[in-house]
Amino acid sequence: MADLDGIKEGKDFGIGIPVKAEKFFLKGSHSLDWGMQNRLARIFNPKSGRTVMLAFDHGYFQGPATGLERIDLTIMPLVPYTDVLMCTRGALRSSIPAETNKPVVLRCSGGQSILKELSNELVAVDIEDAVRINAAAMATQVYIGAEYEHNSIRNLVQLIDTGYKYGMPVMGVTGVGKDMARDARYFGLATRIAAELGAHFVKTYFIEEGFENVVNGCPVPIVIAGGKKISELEALTMAYNAVFQGAAGVDMGRNIFQSDDPVAMIQAVRAVVHDNETPQKAYDLYETLKNEGSKK
Ligand code: 5RP
Repeated sequence: MADLDGIKEGKDFGIGIPVKAEKFFLKGSHSLDWGMQNRLARIFNPKSGRTVMLAFDHGYFQGPATGLERIDLTIMPLVPYTDVLMCTRGALRSSIPAETNKPVVLRCSGGQSILKELSNELVAVDIEDAVRINAAAMATQVYIGAEYEHNSIRNLVQLIDTGYKYGMPVMGVTGVGKDMARDARYFGLATRIAAELGAHFVKTYFIEEGFENVVNGCPVPIVIAGGKKISELEALTMAYNAVFQGAAGVDMGRNIFQSDDPVAMIQAVRAVVHDNETPQKAYDLYETLKNEGSKK
């Protein structure tokens, strides 16, 4: 029997002080269940409302792509600086020690390689394994305007429905159909469709013209992919423009791990995303950290 000594009768019930009904900080997520919100609050920083996700899922369709030949050597030094790991279960179990303790957005689609039609994917992870791995969210590709658009939408819907049973959010990753122009109309369509079907956040590409409309037309948070490697200053400028126009952060891969100094680069990206640093100041930080690193 529990020790009852010292238990006193309650006296201070805060009469007259209303219970605070606080709105969840993330766009479009206020009506989600506690478990979903809790997982989203691990992905997005409740203070800045933003996230720096490190994407290294490329091998699931590209094999040992440049910079990811050895996940252990490339990614581990970046882990302390990322908010989230975005990867496959294979990469996670084989190459990332569990005690790294970072939230995982798990790539849950697959089934094609760069040699084939990428839109023809399937759900490649069972929800129970996503739970077993302690994922914070699942991710799947949505290929609007591509040959197998319907399949990719079915995968998204399947993950969302099973995700709701377990309280696990889903990120829709907008893939680009081969013949589609990468413009605001296309990305506006793709991100909105993903959100309307129930995606809890959406990954898309930054575009120079009309990105703000894409963000505002999407009722849930948007994070941007980095895309192919560009100069560090250009990548920081892209991240800055994206968050300035309403993106909730980045899910960046190649522009971090293919950088001349990935550890310096991820810290510069953080400065932009979480501290609103200007691209030039973040680039100066990158250079400083890079020089310090080369002296060690
Ligand atoms: C494909 C993906 C990639 O696998 C990856 O996450 C993209 O990251 P980046 O473009 O920054 O290298 O999501 O659509």
